Amino acid sequence: SAAEKDGYEYFMLKEIAEQPRAVADTLRGRTGTTGEITLDEVRMSDQDFRDVDKVFIVACGTSYHAGMVAKYAIEHWTRLPVEVELASEFRYRDPVLDRSTLVIAISQSGETMDTLMALRHAKTQKARVLAISNTVGSTIPRESDAVLYTRAGIEVAVASTKALLTQLAACYLVGLHLAGVRGVKYADEVAAVVAELSATPDKIEQVLAAMEPVRALARDMVDADRALFIGRHVGYPVALEGALKLKELAYMHAEGFAAGELKHGPISLIEPGTPVVVVVPSPRGRSILHDKVVSNIQEVKARGARVIAVAEEGDVVVAPHVDHTVFVPRVPTLLAPLLAAVPLQVFACELAAAKGHDIDQPRNLAKSVTVE
Ligand code: G6P
Repeated sequence: SAAEKDGYEYFMLKEIAEQPRAVADTLRGRTGTTGEITLDEVRMSDQDFRDVDKVFIVACGTSYHAGMVAKYAIEHWTRLPVEVELASEFRYRDPVLDRSTLVIAISQSGETMDTLMALRHAKTQKARVLAISNTVGSTIPRESDAVLYTRAGIEVAVASTKALLTQLAACYLVGLHLAGVRGVKYADEVAAVVAELSATPDKIEQVLAAMEPVRALARDMVDADRALFIGRHVGYPVALEGALKLKELAYMHAEGFAAGELKHGPISLIEPGTPVVVVVPSPRGRSILHDKVVSNIQEVKARGARVIAVAEEGDVVVAPHVDHTVFVPRVPTLLAPLLAAVPLQVFACELAAAKGHDIDQPRNLAKSVTVE
């Protein structure tokens, strides 16, 4: 009913708007300055966490994109090797797992069959499993050795939004926890990240407050039949998520690529007018990546692409090269997906609405897929 939607036209819009609150709730009360957090359920000891020598992350759909971001953060903060794998593929190869492997299963619903079967396979190989889920008491957390719940609240729209942002927050917390429990090498950085994380809800709010141009752009692109999304580092999973949202909602052929791969194939797809959405890395710190993405932008522009950039506030280099720039506030690079994902959600939602599609119940999709 309209009341349940709080006056929003679709649940998806309501859930996009709830993201600052959802992220704040997911972070609240969980971190001290050393990084270690209080897990909701834990049936493994600190020693078990210290014994971990390898991490696998398994998930599907949008949750998989959260996992891809987590890989960058966990490797950087803990120096543990991390692999991310689509849950549906995981047990069908022969992954190397033992009791010092930590498998992180990310599932909003906690009931996705592919993810559950990956978890069960990991357990038969004696690996430890930590679940990140939005659904208290669901099957995946119940069968895991440790659980951190996201606190997004019920997500109704099939296309995931606030669940993603809270999964990202939870992944950062798990990364900090692993770093803390295992003896932090970057104590200063961890304390800074904890502080920066707690500032992200306000920054997400700022992103949301500046979305009218993104909505106008989406309406203007209602006749586009395809779009490419490119990014690097943690911007790569954001690009994949932007493309997934367009597929799910606008039924458009949308593909995400690692920007460095453009030259190895996808650049042949660019024709005059092809929309290319670029998730631009921060010009600070990792400025080499920024330079490389600017080169990518020049390459696609030279072939006639219509380029939409999501860039960091104050990035004066990018704007002259692109057709449209969406600025998001500054955050440490690893946390940037918490902000950069938001305009892409809004873009897909508005474009699909302009096409007249059912936003909350896209065709052929289910909120939770409980078959393999
Ligand atoms: C379905 C939903 C997606 C979701 C995926 C994984 O495909 O439509 O939005 O990302 O399942 O769901 P989970 O509940 O495991 O996070």
